[in-house]
Amino acid sequence: MSDKSKTVGILGGTGPAGRGFAVRLAEAGYFTVIGSRSVERGEEIVAEVLASWPDRELPLTGGDNEKAASCDIVVVATPWEGAKATVAALREVIEGSGTASEPKIVLSMCNALVRIDGEFQPLILPRGSIAESIQAALPGAKVAATMHHVPAKELGMLDEPVDCDVLICADDATAASVAAELVGAVPGLRPLYVGGLSCAAPVEAFTPVLLQLNVLNKTRVGLRFTGLPE
Ligand SMILES: NC(=O)c1ccc[n+]([C@@H]2O[C@H](COP(=O)([O-])OP(=O)(O)OC[C@H]3O[C@@H](n4cnc5c(N)ncnc54)[C@H](OP(=O)(O)O)[C@@H]3O)[C@@H](O)[C@H]2O)c1
Repeated sequence: MSDKSKTVGILGGTGPAGRGFAVRLAEAGYFTVIGSRSVERGEEIVAEVLASWPDRELPLTGGDNEKAASCDIVVVATPWEGAKATVAALREVIEGSGTASEPKIVLSMCNALVRIDGEFQPLILPRGSIAESIQAALPGAKVAATMHHVPAKELGMLDEPVDCDVLICADDATAASVAAELVGAVPGLRPLYVGGLSCAAPVEAFTPVLLQLNVLNKTRVGLRFTGLPE
């Protein structure tokens, strides 16, 4: 069930992906915090976003990653190489603002990839995926992996739906349902639960394939699966 009284904080929310998701969640009615390593940058990006949508009253605010980490739901939207260190540094705030009966839900949208000789290639991390390394750094929270394949530019275009299926991997049922709720709040996105966090490795590793399609076809592709029940 949707609970828009919950707040959402986005770590690294100043980048195109986090900012796009933030603006969609705010449009859907979630009070959303765009977090940054710098308070000023978080505030500056929110001012920019609000100025680009002057006719909308978006419940959006900016600040540092610590402010975002204290929200009810936390989204990790940093580059892969900064994700684990970012959550580890905020562990007390993230886990401490959850409870034993309602642990904090953390969503990872990070992809581990590199570009070598102009070609995007996946990186397979020691724990298999960034989502699993975030879960290992936050044993008191529940992590879901999602939003890896949604192009940031389309996410940020509030007047248009985003034509994409969105895969969700989580070991915890509540984390999976919170991820589905937030994904489903964005018009056009269809959340699809695929299984536990062990599925996050191939989901993250598939992103370079989509980026290669983008490069080769000079476009931004979206994923759609056929054959599923309505
Ligand atoms: N771009 C897309 O279309 C897209 C789509 C789906 C998923 N993703 C994934 O979402 C994540 C964010 O993507 P993005 O394109 O928005 O990335 P980005 O612009 O490169 O980074 C996002 C923000 O993270 C912060 N940051 C940069 N380096 C950091 C570090 N070493 N440690 C901690 N924070 C750092 C920066 O914010 P501050 O300087 O303000 O702290 C930056 O604005 C990535 O993991 C990406 O794979 C991207």
